[in-house]
Amino acid sequence: MLKKNLFLSVFALLSFLSLQAKEGMWIPTLLNKYNIEEMKQMGFKLTADDIYSVNQASMKDAVVLFGSGCTAELISGDGLLITNHHCGFDAIQNHSSLQHDYLTNGFWAKNHQEELANPGLSVRFLNRMEDVSDQILAGTEGKPNDSISVVISRNTKQMIAKASEKGKFEAAVQPLFYGNQYFLYVYEVFTDVRLVGAPPTSIGKFGGDTDNWMWPRHTGDFSYFRIYANKDNQPAKYSPDNVPYKPKKFFKISIKGVQPNDFTLVFGYPGRTQEYLPSQAIQQIMEQGDPDKIKIRDLKLGLLATDMNKDPGVRIQYAAKYANTSNAWKKWQGEVKGLKRLNAIETKQKFESEFKNWVDANPERKSRYSEVLPNFEKLYSQIASYTKANDYYGEIVLRGTDIFSIISFFDAIEARWSTLSTADQQKIQNAIQAKLDEYFNEYNRATDEKVFGKLLGLYAKEMDPAFLPEDFKTLMSKTSQDELISKVYRKSVFTDQAKLAEITSGLNAKKLKTLSQDQVFQIFRSLKKQFESKVEPYFTSIQKQIDGNMKTYTAGIMEMNQGKSLWPDANKTLRVSYGKVEGFEPMDGVTYIYYTTLEGIMQKDNPAIYDYNVPQALRDLYQKKDYGRYGQNGQMNVCFTASNHTTGGNSGSPVIDANGNLVGVNFDRCWEGTMSDLMFDPERCRNIALDIRYALFITDKLAGAGYLLDEMKIEE
Ligand code: ARG
Ligand code: ASP
Repeated sequence: MLKKNLFLSVFALLSFLSLQAKEGMWIPTLLNKYNIEEMKQMGFKLTADDIYSVNQASMKDAVVLFGSGCTAELISGDGLLITNHHCGFDAIQNHSSLQHDYLTNGFWAKNHQEELANPGLSVRFLNRMEDVSDQILAGTEGKPNDSISVVISRNTKQMIAKASEKGKFEAAVQPLFYGNQYFLYVYEVFTDVRLVGAPPTSIGKFGGDTDNWMWPRHTGDFSYFRIYANKDNQPAKYSPDNVPYKPKKFFKISIKGVQPNDFTLVFGYPGRTQEYLPSQAIQQIMEQGDPDKIKIRDLKLGLLATDMNKDPGVRIQYAAKYANTSNAWKKWQGEVKGLKRLNAIETKQKFESEFKNWVDANPERKSRYSEVLPNFEKLYSQIASYTKANDYYGEIVLRGTDIFSIISFFDAIEARWSTLSTADQQKIQNAIQAKLDEYFNEYNRATDEKVFGKLLGLYAKEMDPAFLPEDFKTLMSKTSQDELISKVYRKSVFTDQAKLAEITSGLNAKKLKTLSQDQVFQIFRSLKKQFESKVEPYFTSIQKQIDGNMKTYTAGIMEMNQGKSLWPDANKTLRVSYGKVEGFEPMDGVTYIYYTTLEGIMQKDNPAIYDYNVPQALRDLYQKKDYGRYGQNGQMNVCFTASNHTTGGNSGSPVIDANGNLVGVNFDRCWEGTMSDLMFDPERCRNIALDIRYALFITDKLAGAGYLLDEMKIEE
C-alpha cells in the first residue's frame, strides 16, 4: 500500500485520497463547495440540499444534539429517537431501582403513557447556521488584541440577542479555525424527552470496559427516546398534556445490510479535535500529558477494580465512575501508540518547514507569519511545567477521589454562603439531603481511602515542589501512607453520612466553618489555594498566548492552501463525515473484517465474567436461529466498521447509506485509530457502528417491543 504524508492529507490531496478513507468533519452548508463531487464519486446518490437546507426538510431536521454530549436521530413521524445505550445511560439509571432494575432487565414502554420523563434532558435541533465572520469581526481591524476581544464579544452579544428572537431559539456564535471565522448557530430546544426503550445492560453494554474502543465489537449500544411538544408542535416544558413531536423529517431504515466499500455518511455533533496543533504540542501530549494522566488513572483503576471484583455491591457503586475513568484512559493509550506509529512529531515538523519556506518566499507573508513558529517553541517550553501541574491537579484533586469531590461541593457553598439571600440558603439546605444520598450511594469508604492515600502520595512525589503548599509537604513527610488513611482520612466527617447529615441540617455560617476545619477539608483547601495562586494564572495566560498564536498560524495555513478544502476542528456543532464500509489491518499479520455477528457474542459468552454474561433469552434466539427478517443467510450481524472521521460526541450519530437511509448507529472508534483527534490515518482510523438490524432484532424478538417498529419506515 502507498505511504502517505498524513498531515498533508488535512490539506486535501484529494486526487490521492479519493475513494480512500476520508479525513474531515465537514460543515454541512459548505458541502457543495468542497465535498459533494467526491461524495458522489464514492457512491452518494443524493444532493447537498438533502443533507442541509433551510428551504426544505433535510436530514439536519432529523438529527439532534442529545443532552450535552451525544447525538440522536429521528426514526418516526411521532418523534421517536434512537441513540446509544451509553448516551441514555444516566436516564436509564435514574429510573432504575431494586424494584425496577431497568439497567439489568431493560425497559420497554408498552404505550405512550408508560414512557418516562427525564427532567434535565433536552435535545437541540439546528434551525440554521451561517457564516457571520464579517459581522463578528467588524471593527476589529488594526486593533490591539485586548480591544479585539471586547469588540468581538459585543458583536456576538448583539447577534445572539437578535437571533434568539426573544427566547424562541437558542443562539450561539462559535469561532472556527481559532477565530479566523465565526459561525452563528440557531437551535430549537425541546425539554420534554421521554425514555421509550432500552435493552438490558448485558446487551447495551455487552463487553463493557474490556471491549470498549476495541474491535471485534459486539455491543448492542442503543436506546430509544421520544420528543414531546405542545399541541402546536412547539417546544414546551414537561406536561402530561404534551403530545409526540411531529418532525419535519425522519430517517427511513434500511435492513438490506452493508457491503464493503458502501458509501457511509455520519451526521452528528463531534465534540473536539485538534488537527492543526504544532509539533511541540503533539510532543507534549505524547510524551508528557497523556502518559501522566494514564499513570494516575492506572493507579486509581487498579484499586477500584480490585474492590469491584471482590464485592458485587462495590461493583454497582463504582460502575459509572469506573467506566468514565477508564474510557479516556484507554483512549489516551491508543492515541500515544497511534501518534508514535505515524511519526507524528516528525510529520508536523516537516509540515512546519514547508510552512516556513512558504513564509520566507514573500516579504509580505514574512511580516505577518515569521514569528509564529519561534513563538510556539518559546510558549510550549514555558507552559510545560504548568501543564503537568494542571494535569495532576485535575486528575487528583478535582477528579481523583470521592472525598475531595464532596468537600469541593461544601467548599463552594461556604465560599458563597454569606452573600446568599435567605431564600437561596434555604434552597441549598433543601438540596443537601439528596446530594448526600446520591454521593453516599456511590461511595465505599474502604475503596476511596485507598485511592486517597495512593493519589496523594503520587501528588507529593510528582508535583514540582514549588507548586506544593508547605503544610502539605510537612504532613506528607511525616505521615506514612497507612497513617494518612487511619489518622487523617478515617477521622474525617466526610466519610460518615449520618454525622455529615446531622452537621449540615440547619446549615449556617458557623456550621460551615466547623466543617471547613475538618483535616481533609484543610488539605483540599490548601492544595486548591496553592494551585490557584501558583499554577492557574500562569497556565491560563500562556495558553491564551498559544491560542492567539494558533489563530495567526491557522490564518497562514488557510492562506497557504487557498482554494483547497480545509475543515475546521470539531467544536460540538453539526458536521458531516463521509467514508465507506471497510475493515483494516491493525498490525502485521492481522486483518479485521468489517462486521461482527451473534456468533461472536456466543464465543465471548461467559456467565462468570460480568461483561460477557449473555442473557438467556439471547442464547435461546441464537439456538433457534430465530432472526426473522433481520438476519441474512442464517447469520445475525451486530456491528460494522467504516472509515468516517468521528470523535467523542458522535456517539449516537446516524450512519446513513448512499440513498439517505439509516443503516447503523455510530458508537465508538477502533483503538488503533484513536489518534484521529490529533492526526488522521486513513489506513487505520475506523468508526464502529451498531448494525441497525441488530437493534431491530433485539427490539422485536428479544424484548417483544415489535410495536415500536410499526411507527418506523423500514425498507427491506
Ligand atoms: N468509547 C466510547 C466513547 O468514547 C464508549 C464509552 C462508553 N462505554 C464504556 N464501556 N465505558 O464514548
Ligand atoms: N464513544 C464516543 C462518544 O461517546 C465516540 C468516539 O469517541 O468515537 O461520543
